[in-house]
Amino acid sequence: MQTTFVPNQTSSPVSAERAADWKPSDVESDLEKGQPYGKTYTKNMWYYALPSNKLKKGEIESKVMLGEPIVIGRDNEGKLFALRDICPHQAVPLSAGPFDGKELMCPFHGWKFDTSGTCTEVPSLCSDQKMNLCKIRTANYPVKEVLDSIWVYFGDTVNEADLPEVPYAPGLDGLKYRKNTVTLQLPTHIDYAVAALIDTAHVPYVHKSWWWRSAKSVKEKTKTYVPSGTGWTMVKHQPSKHSLAFKLIGKYLETEISFRLPGCRREYLTFNGTTFLAGITTLTPVDETHTELNHTTYWTLPIPKIVANPVLDYFVTTFLKQDQTLALMQENIINKYKPRLIMTIKDAGTPGHWYFLLKKEWNAATSEKRPFVNPIKETKLRWKT
Ligand code: FES
Ligand SMILES: [Fe+2]
Repeated sequence: MQTTFVPNQTSSPVSAERAADWKPSDVESDLEKGQPYGKTYTKNMWYYALPSNKLKKGEIESKVMLGEPIVIGRDNEGKLFALRDICPHQAVPLSAGPFDGKELMCPFHGWKFDTSGTCTEVPSLCSDQKMNLCKIRTANYPVKEVLDSIWVYFGDTVNEADLPEVPYAPGLDGLKYRKNTVTLQLPTHIDYAVAALIDTAHVPYVHKSWWWRSAKSVKEKTKTYVPSGTGWTMVKHQPSKHSLAFKLIGKYLETEISFRLPGCRREYLTFNGTTFLAGITTLTPVDETHTELNHTTYWTLPIPKIVANPVLDYFVTTFLKQDQTLALMQENIINKYKPRLIMTIKDAGTPGHWYFLLKKEWNAATSEKRPFVNPIKETKLRWKT
């Protein structure tokens, strides 16, 4: 694993007692040349867009994803599409015009576009004024629906068979579930949002709640990580006994936590081996300084949504707002003072370093058109949390 020391860091990341022993290799800096934190996106990848129930037949939704205005829609047959939300005539958003379930009409001069993004009608043309409308297009994006979530692909690959796997929640395959999605905006680049999502060291400080845990409950942990897909999996184990919630449920529980590019944390809780609760947190860049977080909870227990949704909305939102508050403080400093940072430190921050390596390898592999080689090796990590 490559390590880089940042020599003019002003504050030490270790306590005074340990400072004497501290060596540059204790620090895993991700400020590598060409791909520093907070500057680039994972390319050629699926990004979470919105929950399926937000898009009924004949409806469209506009969003900015990875700095691009996108209109996502579902036609009268139920088929999804995603287009660049810019009319190629004079740059008015197509989403601002009507959609009849087949075609979008630009609100400026009434040009119509089918769901592949091709112009089908220019109303100002007289019958003898011929124009090759097929050449007038706005870009389209591959779009996919998996476990009632809609994903959009951003990248160069056009061949459907070559597209990577959507980083969805596989523990639910074949199970009957209900779901709830909470959406939240973070004022940071996706890299910082991912770093916080997979960081365990902040949990006892940021997520202090009577129903979760307190900073006093910090203790040493050892977990085994294995490479999997475009990320890693923390091998199945019993969930943290710190939390009151888990103390109450019992000893037959196991949890599996995994991470997938571009910014997807997945956690399953199983009871006697069967998944009954899964949480998938996805991060989608809005632009270089904003990221949308969607947390979807799936449950297979017979608890109706009318009961579960208000509870989940409260607890998930409270939890995520704690992260959002920190992100806001962090972003104010980063934008204003642009400090040099030690982004990760072994072992608690090692997953943050892995994210950086994964993203770098994925971008290199897809642009060189070669297979992705997961740079992570099976590792035991130890930290206090
Ligand atoms: S700007 Fe869209 S039709 Fe003219
Ligand atoms: Fe957090």
